[in-house]
Amino acid sequence: MANLEPLIRQRAAAILDELPVGETFDFVEKVSVELTSQMLATLFDFPFEHRHLLPQASDIILTQAGENSVYKTDLERQAALTPYFERFVGLWEARKDTSGGTDLLSLLAADPATRKEGQMFGYMGNVVLLTVAGSDTTRHSITGALMAFQDYPDAYDRLRADPSLLDSAVPEIIRWQSPVAHMRRTALQDAELGGKAIKKGEKVIMWYVSGNRDGDVIPDPDTFIIDRERPRQHVGFGFGIHRCVGNRLAEFRSRLRADPPGPSA
Ligand code: HEM
Repeated sequence: MANLEPLIRQRAAAILDELPVGETFDFVEKVSVELTSQMLATLFDFPFEHRHLLPQASDIILTQAGENSVYKTDLERQAALTPYFERFVGLWEARKDTSGGTDLLSLLAADPATRKEGQMFGYMGNVVLLTVAGSDTTRHSITGALMAFQDYPDAYDRLRADPSLLDSAVPEIIRWQSPVAHMRRTALQDAELGGKAIKKGEKVIMWYVSGNRDGDVIPDPDTFIIDRERPRQHVGFGFGIHRCVGNRLAEFRSRLRADPPGPSA
């Protein structure tokens, strides 16, 4: 895929330039959701005018059906996803016989591991994973940044005075916000962790949000510090074999620093 940096910059600037001045507006809708939907549509080469289907689908996928939900039954919830699934079936059909595309759908369609006949289920699985992973996380990080800078106005002033601080401010925003609260794994063997016995087959929840406030590893973890010495030493992107594949794109502006990502080695 072509260098995304100029495109992201141009879009972020256009979104900010168009914000209403002197009146209240919904930052989540106008900035966080808009920028992430535009970029996700580009990654998929998804019809730009229908980009709102992407964050919408992510919200539906993450909503449980039930009495207190907008979707009373799973069937209702699935029906709400139909336009999204139909779009992606159409895009698969269109891309599977072309070659050379560098968007994510073309890459899935071109790779022998994912292009086989009867792979629609796997393809949709990847599409759903990318839609949720690429939209929910980044939009919450953008909104979280706004809230953090509101609570720490000095940090905002310092960043404006010295934009090179973005290199450490961006990972700090992700640690601070921790948009993915947890993931779950199933233990493959008996183990002991932190003095607790875990039996083979048991489900284990990994609370990234808690790890990112662990004072034994992260100095002064409850404070938003935009020039931390080791800002990428957090678990906001997970750790190990499933560590976020989109992490470099999500951080983007922050260049690779000398310190390795993840928890202390
Ligand atoms: C601030 C933004 C983001 C955060 C905090 C984040 C966080 C995470 C976390 C915690 C995981 C799970 C890791 C694990 O299970 O060990 C994950 C997985 C994943 N992320 Fe992200 N993510 C972000 C942005 C993105 C973007 C922009 C994309 C793609 C466009 C993406 C694609 C994925 C995928 C495909 C996985 C699954 C990887 C696997 O299971 O092997 N993420 N992410």
